[in-house]
Amino acid sequence: MVKRIQFAKTGGPEVLEFVDFEPKAPGAGEVQIRNQAVGLNFIDIYFRTGLYPAPSMPSGLGTEGAGVVEALGEGVTHLKVGDRVAYAQGPLGSYSEVHTLPAAKVAVLPDGIDCDTAAASMLKGLTVQYLMRQTFELKGGETILWHAAAGGVGSIACQWARELGVKLIGTVSSPEKAELAKQNGAWATIDYTKEDVVERVKELTNGAMCDVVYDSVGKDTWETSLDCLKPRALMVSFGNASGAVEGVNIGILNQKGSLFVTRPSLNGYADTRERFEAMCNDLFAMLESGKIKIDIAQRFALEEAGKAQQALASRKTTGSTILLP
Ligand SMILES: NC(=O)c1ccc[n+]([C@@H]2O[C@H](COP(=O)([O-])OP(=O)(O)OC[C@H]3O[C@@H](n4cnc5c(N)ncnc54)[C@H](OP(=O)(O)O)[C@@H]3O)[C@@H](O)[C@H]2O)c1
Repeated sequence: MVKRIQFAKTGGPEVLEFVDFEPKAPGAGEVQIRNQAVGLNFIDIYFRTGLYPAPSMPSGLGTEGAGVVEALGEGVTHLKVGDRVAYAQGPLGSYSEVHTLPAAKVAVLPDGIDCDTAAASMLKGLTVQYLMRQTFELKGGETILWHAAAGGVGSIACQWARELGVKLIGTVSSPEKAELAKQNGAWATIDYTKEDVVERVKELTNGAMCDVVYDSVGKDTWETSLDCLKPRALMVSFGNASGAVEGVNIGILNQKGSLFVTRPSLNGYADTRERFEAMCNDLFAMLESGKIKIDIAQRFALEEAGKAQQALASRKTTGSTILLP
C-alpha cells in the first residue's frame, strides 16, 4: 500500500482525500515510478471541478512527476530499474507516492536536472516548447502578448522568449508579479486588473500590435486578446484559468482582422515517443544550460494538495509549485 490523493466526486478542494492505495503493477509497455516530487498544474483543478471529466471515479489526480523507476512491464527498453525519470502526460494519478503509466510518456533525466526541478517544469516547460517552437515558430524579433506571465507556464515563457529575442508583453495582476515577469525576461508588463490592455499594447508597439497572443486565462481575456493582434495574426487559446471560452461566433475572426485561432494541448503535440523525446531534449538543454531557471516558489506536502490547489486557483502563487510525497 502507498498513499495518494483521490476524489470520488467533483467539487472544491475538500473533495480531495488522502487515502491508502494499491498501485497497479506495470503491464506491457508500462513503468512504475516512486515519485520524489509531483508537479501542481491548473489542469488538475479542471479535473477536480469537473470542467474536464475524469475517465472513472474514484479517480487519482495529476499527470506530472519525477522520481525513480521501481518496476517495468514487458517490452520497455528505454528505461531500467533505478533510473531517475520524469513525466507530464498519461493517466491521472501522479498525486501519489507511486504512479504507473505508459513508459512512452517517460523521459530519463540528465544528471544536471534534479527531481524537484523536473516535477516543476516538465508539463509547463514542454507546453512552452510546443507553443513557442511549434504552434508558432518564433524566430526572434516578434512581439507577443502572454497572459499570466508570473505563473508557472508564464515564468518559463518569459525566459524562453528572452533567449529567442522575442519581445514578450506579459499581463499580471500585481506590481510584485510584474517585477517577477520582468526579472524573467518580459520586455514589458501590463496589470490587466487596472490598465486597458489593448491601449497599452497599442502604445508599446507604436500601433503595430502583436504577432501572436498566448491566452491561458480564457473567458475573461478572449476578446481583449483578439484586439491585441495584427491583421492575419495568431490567437493561441491554451487554457481556462478564469473559465472556458464558449459560444464563439467565428465571424469575430473576420471582424477583427482575418485572424487565425488555435486551441492546442500538450497531448496533441507530444503524441508520439519521437516527438515527446525531441521536445524533452529541447527543454532539458534549456534547463541544463541555465538559460531557463525554474522558480519553485511553493512546496506543499502531498497530503496538502487541496491547500496547494486553493493557493493556485486564488492567484496567490507565482512560478511553479510542487507536492512532496
Ligand atoms: N493547453 C495546454 O497544453 C496547457 C498546458 C499547461 C498549462 N496550460 C494552461 O496554462 C495556464 C497556466 O497554468 P499554470 O499551471 O502555470 O498556472 P499559473 O499560471 O501558475 O496560475 C494561473 C494564473 O492565471 C492567472 N489568472 C487570471 N485570471 C484568473 C482567475 N480568474 N483565476 C485564477 N487565476 C487567474 C493568475 O495570474 P495573475 O494573478 O497574474 O492574473 C494565476 O496565477 C492554465 O490556464 C493552464 O490550464 C495549458
